[in-house]
Amino acid sequence: MGRAQPFLQRVDGVISVDDRARMFYQKAVTIWLTGLSGSGKSTIAYELERLLMSQGHPCYVLDGDNIRHGLGGDLSFTPEDRHENIRRVAHVAQLMNDAGLIVITALISPMHEDRAMARDIIGPDRFVETFLSASVDECARRDPKGLYAKARAGKIPSFTGVSAPYEAPVHPDLRVETASESKEASVAGIFNYLSNSFLTTH
Ligand code: ADX
Repeated sequence: MGRAQPFLQRVDGVISVDDRARMFYQKAVTIWLTGLSGSGKSTIAYELERLLMSQGHPCYVLDGDNIRHGLGGDLSFTPEDRHENIRRVAHVAQLMNDAGLIVITALISPMHEDRAMARDIIGPDRFVETFLSASVDECARRDPKGLYAKARAGKIPSFTGVSAPYEAPVHPDLRVETASESKEASVAGIFNYLSNSFLTTH
């Protein structure tokens, strides 16, 4: 995983994971949303964030489109650059989890291998792979940003689901059927999962 850093050592703070969990009434976790463009990742991410915050749970969304304006602003959509984009976001998620926050990522993250890397960086106990299952046809029908029409017309190279691959998770921790259920039901399903394993009441 990491790059060789022979002359660096880690330094420990004095605040423990348990201290932070008690302070924030939660075990820190990353809900890693994966799915095609238009599958509902951003919508679900921000609605889940709203629900968590309304119940007093500090959390933050790392959304692919926003990240690519800053932290990933130098990256394209080649497989190598997507890998790097996911690596950076996974490290930020890991740091935010370390700080005690719940993180919700909304990235296409199309390749098994890159999601496995994210799981390794964040830690398997804190990584909830959540597959937003909606077919290419359904996402293209919605086409909220008009990108499928452009991609199908050959105007966007390497567009996921059209001219670049999407490897659907085989055994995701959670699966959300955004094509057939309401946004509220999808968010409630994820929230219930969190309630059972990661949240404590105030
Ligand atoms: S990822 O593959 O590296 O995980 P990411 O989630 O950050 O992708 O960015 C996807 C967003 O970038 C899409 O929602 C879409 O708005 C935009 N985009 C621009 N070009 C492409 C492309 N070739 N493939 C997919 N998404 C693209």
